[in-house]
This record gives sequence, C-alpha cells and structure tokens, in this order.
Amino acid sequence: MRCSPRFLPQRCARIFPQLCYSSISFPEALKRGGAVGRLKLFSTHVLFEEPRRRLEEHFDVEYWRGNERPPRPEVLKRVAGMDALVCLLTEKVDRELLDAAGPKLRIVANVAVGFDNIDVPACTERGIAVTNTPGVLDETTADFTWTLLLGVARRLVEGDRLARSGEWLQWNFDLLCGTDVWGKTLGIIGLGRIGRAVARRAQGFRMPVIYHSRTRASAEIEKELNAEYRTQDEVLLQADFLSLHVPLNEKTRGLIGRAELARMKRTAFLINTTRGPVVQEAALVEALDQGVIAGAALDVFEREPLISDGLRRDNVVLAPHLGSASVETRTRMAMIAVENAIAFFAGQRPPTILNPEVLRRK
Ligand code: GLV
Repeated sequence: MRCSPRFLPQRCARIFPQLCYSSISFPEALKRGGAVGRLKLFSTHVLFEEPRRRLEEHFDVEYWRGNERPPRPEVLKRVAGMDALVCLLTEKVDRELLDAAGPKLRIVANVAVGFDNIDVPACTERGIAVTNTPGVLDETTADFTWTLLLGVARRLVEGDRLARSGEWLQWNFDLLCGTDVWGKTLGIIGLGRIGRAVARRAQGFRMPVIYHSRTRASAEIEKELNAEYRTQDEVLLQADFLSLHVPLNEKTRGLIGRAELARMKRTAFLINTTRGPVVQEAALVEALDQGVIAGAALDVFEREPLISDGLRRDNVVLAPHLGSASVETRTRMAMIAVENAIAFFAGQRPPTILNPEVLRRK
C-alpha cells in the first residue's frame, strides 16, 4: 500500500513524493520502536549540511572526514559492526567489505546513480538492501554533457588557456576556429533518463538526434525528443557528436573500441559522461593519434583518477568526473541516500532500492 504523503517525513515527500511504499507510516514505525537513533551508520563522506543533519537525527553516525577518499583499509576498519553504510562511487562494496562489516550490516546506500562499485548479488545473498540515487541528477548531468560538447567543439579550454596566459596579442581571423554545433547530428547511445535529457537540449541547437538503446523508446518520447532510432552502427556512422549514456555493466564494458571508433566520421567528437570503462581508452588514444576522429570530451576514465597521457591533447577536453557536481544535485543525491536508510529501518520500502527481494525476506 502506498503511504499517504501526509505521513511522510517532509523532505522525503519533497524529494520523491510518488515513491514511498509502506503499510505503516514513518512516525508510526518510529513509535513502534524502530529505535532508529541507536543504529550505527558509517558514511564515507561528510555530505552537505542538510543531509548530514537529517542523518544525525536518526543514526549514530561515524564519518570519514578526510579531504581525500578514504584508503581501503580505513573503510574496512570503520565499517566493522555498522548497521548501515552510506558510500560514494569510489568505494568498492564487494565480499571483502561485506565480510569486514559483519552480520549487522543491513543497507548500503550509494550516493550515485551508477552502482557498478557494488556487488549487488553479494549484498542480496546476505539480505543487505542496496540503494542508489536515480532521477535527481539527470538534468545536471545533461547540462554537463553539453558543457563538454560545446567546450570541445568551440575550443573553449584552449581559448581560456590562451586568454589567461598573457600571450594573446591580437584578435585574428582564424584564431582557434572550432566546429559548429548547431545543426549537426547528435548521436546518443543509451536513451535512459540522462540520454533523454541530453537529447531534449539538442532542439535548441536545431540538431537532429539519432539514438540507439537497449530498448526502443515509445513513439511519444521519440516525437517529444525529435529523436530517431537507429542501429548502433548507424549511430556511429552518422553522428557528428556521439554521446554515451549507457550504465556500466558486463554488456557495456568496452562498448566503444577500435572497430567502433573506426566507424565514426573523421570530423566527429566522442563525449563520455557515463563510466570510463565503457570506452576502451587505449583504442581511443590510438584513434586520436591517427586522426580517426576529431576529438573527445571526457568526464570519466577507465582507471580513475588516472588519465592516459595520450588523452592530454588540445582536441580532448578532460574533466574529473563532474557530471552531477552541483551543490543542489549533490545535496539531493545525499538526501535520497539518507532517506533510503531511514525508510529501511522504519519498516518502509527504501524509495530507490535496487534489490527489493531482500525486503520480502525481512
Ligand atoms: C555519478 O557518476 C553517478 O553515478 O551518480
């Protein structure tokens, strides 16, 4: 049964009004001795103030407070004996970590939409709920995809470098001429929520959109986005800008390699804001060396934070995985993770649970 929004904690209702499932209301569950306050939670980041306050209302929270990501041994040590874990995409939640946590661990709330860092089947085997943060970062990530696309096409980073170097001596007719964006063909691989948000923005640039996706979108969505379905090969062949929006899994790992790059136009640009391993980085470097494509704009890398030297070139724009990095969006993501943890221990269905089968076993 869906619980009435009036029973939902205020922030939960605001963030995902349509998503809370439970047969009992939240305050009711607390009254019934959820004893949520005594539960121990390890958060591998301090998060922002609003989610932090919310978390602390309900859990005894231990944070990793370092400026850098916690070293693995530190995570393994601190997760021991915890009831809940709030983690980022940098933390690998595998059997080793679950062993280190011990039998009390009931929920892993990832502050990311991608969950390739988590061994979900291993969590499910142990009855541990896993949640992610879908639906709140699509527009922000789409904005950033366009930031990269425009940046590489119009040579913004090179221009910035020149402008601030003190070496720009005069305007000139052919100074840093890039390539037009408007009117070109945008190819999208993966038309999920983020892919659709990227496609929607193309209309302002009068760009035809072609896409390939595991499942074809409805005629209604295709019409709304002015997007045409093609085979993957056709998208590779026809796109002037190819933007990747598939999740990383065993089917998409290495999706774009030497053969796929060779199908692209020599004038085309590759944009990747999903996960680095979707592109075979060595093949991309080779393609750039040989002028197989015109350039790339990358927010993600095969072995983050390492970046292949061959990608450090003028026709490649590089960003350190910033797709969802706005204060508003990161706050929303953290709030979802926090609300998932609270809902779980309040006897409710965590709104964005990935393995709901563990709830049936509770
Ligand atoms: C960011 O990369 C995310 O998966 O949320």
